[in-house]
Formats: sequence, structure tokens, C-alpha cells
Amino acid sequence: MASPKTLTTLADENTFESRFIRDEDERPKIAHNNFSNEIPIISIAGIDEANEQREEICKRIVEACEEWGIFQVVDHGVDTKLISEMTRLAREFFALSPEEKLRFDMSGGKKGGFIVSSHLQGEAVQDWREIVTYFSYPIKSRDYSRWPEKPEEWKKVTEEYSEKLMSLSCKLLQVLSEAMGLEKDALTKACVDMDQKVVVNFYPKCPKPDLTLGLKRHTDPGTITLLFQDQVGGLQATKDNGKTWITVQPVEGAFVVNLGDHGHILSNGRFKNADHQAVVNSNHSRLSIATFQNPSPDAIVYPLKIRDGEKSLLEEPITFAEMYRRKMSKDLEIARLKKLAK
Ligand code: SIN
Ligand code: FE2
Repeated sequence: MASPKTLTTLADENTFESRFIRDEDERPKIAHNNFSNEIPIISIAGIDEANEQREEICKRIVEACEEWGIFQVVDHGVDTKLISEMTRLAREFFALSPEEKLRFDMSGGKKGGFIVSSHLQGEAVQDWREIVTYFSYPIKSRDYSRWPEKPEEWKKVTEEYSEKLMSLSCKLLQVLSEAMGLEKDALTKACVDMDQKVVVNFYPKCPKPDLTLGLKRHTDPGTITLLFQDQVGGLQATKDNGKTWITVQPVEGAFVVNLGDHGHILSNGRFKNADHQAVVNSNHSRLSIATFQNPSPDAIVYPLKIRDGEKSLLEEPITFAEMYRRKMSKDLEIARLKKLAK
């Protein structure tokens, strides 16, 4: 029997299948390494002290969320050794044989594991990425049977990483709650028992990077996302609905922070939900680790603050599960119409 294939094996064979070819309007407009410094890089050293320096940090975070919904943080207090362990183990996982990775195959609706993945499952055109994903919070959602067993230290390191990123996210959400004139923990409380999901993305070298995307354009559905990326580059953002794109400059040790749809709605649109995508290249594989902080499925979604003269972005309160269902069915409908139009 022929051995099973993953994207990594396809990339090694230098084959390029039509299932990865995007329509022209979706293809990358600028290269993975055409870096821009437009996205603010904010040092948050001193964020825990109540003084003028904290005020200045908060001001910069709030401005970035109003303009872009995306920024980078440095001096965030997460140990660089922990981050490099995480990325080392992740790379080791993706370098395993297809048989080993596919032991955790999550196709068929399993919650967590390995897959050659697209943003929307079942879409005709696929993303050029492999992922491994798992749920890390609430703790009861940890299904260790869906977490890779190899490399061995994976479980211990990812647990520590998850805990540190949960606490960094809550710190950033405090800043935004205060900026909205609310209690520090307002945004965290609105998430009820906050979920955390980790998606480790591996983008193999790609023979035709101009025709495809590593990850199709999207906004994240949740509250806030912390992304660690290696130095290759490929994350792109747009604030004018895709007319112009910028490639986020990789910064050693930084987290890229972006707000998702939930964060956008809770602020009644004051904070942007960053529109972003990932492009690939033919010279280097790329690794990124996205940590999604989401509300519980049954958390009620409605703006926490509606400023004078504003109309609510939502007609009525709905659950996060319903918000997600509506987003996915709209995205699928757009994909279906595009296919019919061909
Ligand atoms: C993501 O949007 O989840 C990942 C983007 C990236 O890999 O740069
Ligand atoms: Fe994303």
C-alpha cells in the first residue's frame, strides 16, 4: 500500500495540485518578506504598575486597536526559553512521518489533532498549511487523547505555555475594559469561563506561492488572539477591505495580538477585528502558533458599551455559539456563490 500523504510530503515531491490554486482576486498582492513597520510594536514592561508609564502603554494599545485591531507586544514577561521550547517541539512534530502525524488525524469531526487544513472545511480551494490543534481551557476541555504524544515533552511545555498566554491575554483585556470605561475584568467576565484553543500552523515551502495562500483572508471569531511567528514572515493585514495589504515585520520574541469578532462586537465596533491572511514562499517553511481566547459557547454576546449616538452592532443579544454559526454560514454561502459564478 502506498504511504499516506500530507502537505509536507507533497511539498517535497514538488507537486502542485489545482486544489490549492486561488482565484486571481484572492492571490497574494505582496510578498511574505516585503515587511512594513506600520503595525505598532509596544513594549509592555511596566504594565503591572499603576503609574504614568502604564498610562502611556495603555494609550498605545488602545490606539492600535482603534486603528488596526492588531499590534505586537514585546517585554511581555513570557519566558523566551518557554517560547523556543514550544516552537522546537512543534517543528519536531511536523517533521514526523505522515503515519505518525495521521494517528491524530482530526478529519471526520474529531475535536483536536492534526489536519491539512483550510479555514472553512469543505471549501473547494484549500489552504497551504498543516495544523495541529487542541483545546487547553477550560481545563476540563483538555482531551489528552487528541494531543500529540510525540515529541515527549509536548504536553508539559504546552500546558505551561497555555497558562502564561491565558494570563497575558487577560492583562490585555483589562486594558481594553478600562479604556471602555468599565471594570477591569469586564471583558474577561463577558467570556464567562474563557476558552483557549491553540492552533500550531506549519506552512511548508511552496512551489507556487503566487497562486495560493497559507491561510485565506479572515477575521478571528473570538475575543483576542496571541500569535507567535518565526522570523520568515507571511502574516499580512489589511484595513481597507483588501485593497492594500501589509506584511507584518517579524520581531524576535514578540507576540502579534489581534482582536476578533467578539472583541469587536463587545466594543460596539470601536476596536477593529483585524482582517488578515498568511502567505507562503518557496524558500522557507514557516511556523506560527495561534492562541485563541474565546468566550464560552453559551456566553451572551452584546456590546458592553454603546456610546452616545451609536447604534448597537447587534439587534439582540445572542450566544457566542449562535454568533459563530451565523459567521460560518455566511462565509460558506459566499464560497458557494463564488463557485457557482465560475
Ligand atoms: C492565523 O491567522 O491564525 C495565523 C496567521 C499566521 O500564521 O500568520
Ligand atoms: Fe487568524
